Amino acid sequence: MINKLHVFIIKGKHIILAFACCFISLMIICFFINYYSKDNSVSALQQNSKYVILAVNDTGMHCYQPDYSKFLILPPGNNLKSQVFLNEGKEAKLINSGIEISYQIVNNTTSANKINFWEYSKDYGYNIAPDVGITGNSLSGKMKLSKDGMFYEAAAIPVTPFNDGSTELNPYQLAAIRVTDSKTGKELVRLDNIVVPVSNEMNCSKCHGASGTDINILKAHDELSKTQLVDELSKGKRHKCADCHQDNILDSAGKPGIPPLSQAIHGFHANKMVQSDIKPECYTCHPGPVSKCYRGVMFAEGVSCVNSKCHGDMEKIAATQAEGRQAWLQEPDCSSCHGEKYGVNAGRLYRNSYLVNNTNAEMNGFILCESCHNGPHAEWKSANLKDNLLPIKLLGYPNFIDKCTVCHEGTGKIHQTVPKK
Ligand code: HEC
Ligand code: HEC
Ligand code: HEC
Ligand code: HEC
Ligand code: HEC
Ligand code: HEC
Repeated sequence: MINKLHVFIIKGKHIILAFACCFISLMIICFFINYYSKDNSVSALQQNSKYVILAVNDTGMHCYQPDYSKFLILPPGNNLKSQVFLNEGKEAKLINSGIEISYQIVNNTTSANKINFWEYSKDYGYNIAPDVGITGNSLSGKMKLSKDGMFYEAAAIPVTPFNDGSTELNPYQLAAIRVTDSKTGKELVRLDNIVVPVSNEMNCSKCHGASGTDINILKAHDELSKTQLVDELSKGKRHKCADCHQDNILDSAGKPGIPPLSQAIHGFHANKMVQSDIKPECYTCHPGPVSKCYRGVMFAEGVSCVNSKCHGDMEKIAATQAEGRQAWLQEPDCSSCHGEKYGVNAGRLYRNSYLVNNTNAEMNGFILCESCHNGPHAEWKSANLKDNLLPIKLLGYPNFIDKCTVCHEGTGKIHQTVPKK
């Protein structure tokens, strides 16, 4: 008995020893795998290609309606922007000719079987084939050079948050971008992890009824605002809200005497929000408790949409318009919290602004703020892991583009002077 136990203990020791050895060797192997893969992920980019893609969805997330059969607030349509730089070590170049940039939403090749937009698009004045967006772009295609020649873009890509074969809401869709030499067709660089955030979380149903939501909305509108929208719909006339309400995002002037859509919807609902338990209240109509579109560095720092120098509450969003603010065209400026040195360009939105205040004149006027900081509500470092895939690929860690070497040799500060307004 004692003998057997003894043997067992010795065997046990061996087993423990064997385990310990395995564990230690595994640790060593892991360390090396980790070490080399880290090393590779940084150098691979520099070795494989001298071309650097910076790409971004220009607003933090696009939101569209779950159903288009009764009316249209906003059509589906994400805007993808991209800048390509040639990193030649000592110098860098913005590449805005001689290349072609193609894009493709990954594992999401069709939208027409996922939303009913195209069944009614003609009624709203959009003469487009299924799967084609309001500016002619599809889920894959070529990006076009912007008017100012500084970046490539694909506007209004009609992407949905549903991957092929799935009904699960996946708001963080990914795009693959491929840059080729337009003469030879040779691939220069590619990326497959640009986030194209999109959601249909517009929970009007929270208060307007889970079934018949949209018809209930039209009924309420007819009753309160003396319109005949339900009657017109029964005769086949579908309205955009923008037919009557000014809406700058759709370039619509609306009708005189009727408040702009953003002013009407926020102002009217301001004192109705007690009916919603969703916090922040904005997530009742904007995406949303699941999508969490507000996720950038300001979110991580606890800056609120409402109690801050950003948007303010619903009352304020309407009141600022009554005082002359143009919805969609005048939005918060980074400088209101970070100071003038970190402001957007005079008279421009953040998403249309360029770096202008480096003391080296050659650096100014062509690098989009968004190329280095990402889109609004998703500013790097983002709380969403997918948003950070691009900077991790370029820097090796998640942050805004904080190293000159992403584009060319050098060290120093990017924002140096207070720009002239
Ligand atoms: C927190 C609750 C709540 C949410 C969420 C909500 N509504 Fe309303 N809405 C109301 C209430 C209450 C009324 C008053 C009419 C009624 O009693 O039905 C109303 C009325 C309206 C009216 C008629 C306004 C008028 O004076 O003509 C429209 C249009 C409307 N809502 C659109 C929407 C849309 C579009 C959404 C989603 C994007 C939405 N609402 C989400 C509560 C809500
Ligand atoms: C046919 C024209 C027309 C269409 C289409 C239309 N509206 Fe209106 N809307 C009006 C008019 C007129 C008023 C009343 C304006 C007033 O009383 O000053 C109004 C008022 C409102 C109000 C109340 C504003 C307030 O402060 O009391 C809301 C909210 C609103 N509309 C939302 C919508 C939404 C959302 C849509 C699309 C689903 C829409 N409207 C489509 C004409 C229209
Ligand atoms: C009752 C639904 C509803 C709620 C709640 C709501 N929004 Fe909106 N919001 C909308 C709709 C619908 C639009 C799009 C209007 C259009 O197409 O122009 C919009 C557009 C906007 C815009 C762009 C237009 C502009 O005025 O510049 C901003 C910014 C905005 N919302 C901020 C907020 C914030 C911040 C909150 C929370 C305090 C909030 N919204 C709550 C429905 C809502
Ligand atoms: C309502 C105030 C507010 C606004 C507006 C704002 N920020 Fe911030 N931001 C903060 C706060 C607070 C922090 C955390 C403290 C800090 O680093 O300054 C922060 C941090 C940051 C950081 C991290 C700084 C670092 O060194 O790590 C970046 C980058 C940034 N913001 C970019 C932006 C951009 C780009 C905009 C405009 C699109 C913007 N912010 C608008 C309040 C704001
Ligand atoms: C080439 C990349 C690049 C571009 C383009 C760029 N930034 Fe920055 N940004 C940085 C870096 C790096 C920092 C850190 C401080 C520095 O180096 O100046 C920073 C810091 C910031 C901060 C945080 C400041 C703080 O308080 O810590 C804000 C806000 C900001 N930038 C806004 C902008 C805006 C607005 C634009 C466009 C007008 C812009 N940035 C364009 C790289 C960039
Ligand atoms: C997003 C890419 C990018 C980043 C990041 C970047 N640069 Fe540049 N930089 C350029 C490009 C492109 C040019 C060439 C512009 C031209 O055509 O003259 C340039 C030009 C310059 C020049 C002018 C001299 C020359 O080489 O042409 C200086 C100096 C410079 N950058 C400094 C910096 C410093 C310092 C940093 C980091 C704090 C930095 N840059 C980060 C893209 C970048």
